[in-house]
Amino acid sequence: MVMIKKASKVTPWEVEGKVDYDKLIKEFGVSRLDDKLLERIKKHAKDLHPMLRRKIFFAHRDLKWLLDEYDKGNKFFLYTGCGPSGPIHLGHLGTWVFTKWLQDVFDVELYFQFTDDEKFLFKDKSYDEIQKWTYDNMLDVIALGFNPKKTFFIVDTKHANLMYPEAIKVAKKITYSTVKAAFGFDDSKNIGEIFYTSMQAVPVFLPCVLKKRKIPCLIPLAIDQDPHFRIARDVYPKLGYDKPAIIHSIFLPPLTGTEGKMSSSNSDKAILTTDSPNQVKKKINKYAFSGGQASIEEHRKKGGNPDVDVSFQYLKFFFEQDDAKLQQIYDDYKSGKMLTSELKNYLIDKINAFLKEHQKKRELAKKQINDFMLKN
Ligand code: TRP
Repeated sequence: MVMIKKASKVTPWEVEGKVDYDKLIKEFGVSRLDDKLLERIKKHAKDLHPMLRRKIFFAHRDLKWLLDEYDKGNKFFLYTGCGPSGPIHLGHLGTWVFTKWLQDVFDVELYFQFTDDEKFLFKDKSYDEIQKWTYDNMLDVIALGFNPKKTFFIVDTKHANLMYPEAIKVAKKITYSTVKAAFGFDDSKNIGEIFYTSMQAVPVFLPCVLKKRKIPCLIPLAIDQDPHFRIARDVYPKLGYDKPAIIHSIFLPPLTGTEGKMSSSNSDKAILTTDSPNQVKKKINKYAFSGGQASIEEHRKKGGNPDVDVSFQYLKFFFEQDDAKLQQIYDDYKSGKMLTSELKNYLIDKINAFLKEHQKKRELAKKQINDFMLKN
């Protein structure tokens, strides 16, 4: 039988099929995060973050340089962002939870970009609706506990006075053919989409502009966002700035299986930060792809496959912080000792405990937005 494998695709706007991360490392020209670098991070943290230990963050660019600078006393700042086009789901949180850890460990500033322009240009949604999501998504970011004294929100259209003069300097050095080749754009793209990469490129050096000195930048991101910076990398030195360091994560799978990534375009496939305990329970029980066997008897006999089981993958991402416990679940599920229903119940409790706290902080965040805005 000929197996037809759905081709996988990874761009900042589409992730489809089974992602081959080894291939991406080669295609994008990034480096694997090796034990030597992990050891260096560990020198600054008591313990490595589970997402580092488990290789959820698995690749990087120029991290050695960034740590060398840090060891010399040259502190970096963090930069990451959010495209506000819908509700926040668990897939978004991975990068941000990790970014918050980095902020605490290295005691550094974070510039957080909300690309309302991007989502307006790329999605079939009105400007007003995107503004609504921008506000809504900020609540989730604040709820994760970033330090308000060291965290600065940039909203592309609201900080146009700071962003635009810099974005045109980037844009002038990127050709249309480069953008076309990197993203596979055809001539039907609107001209705002073609320009957009230059907006995402700016926060890498905006703090340098504001403080009038060079400061190293570290960008935690899911690997689909890398192409923007791959294009912009050549531009930074031409404008007198350093290239940023980047640390890349894999994608949190959608509920329905280990292909593609979680996305809020289909809320059945995603767990939203605003879901009630009952909604979480229903979604996981109904949709979470299971690596278990068809019947309990068969499962006891043959065991399940945690490597394709979505509930297990969520525990591995960050809902189970304890490595020993995670390993025990892995072993018990594989041997058939643990049933799919037990695994799912365990995950449901973990997610609901997390969301209960998150939703409380999300309410409080409504009063804090102003504290986080970059003053322009
Ligand atoms: N384009 C990203 C998105 O759609 C948002 C974003 C802006 C971002 N700047 C970033 C993500 C830097 C990671 C790093 O979600």
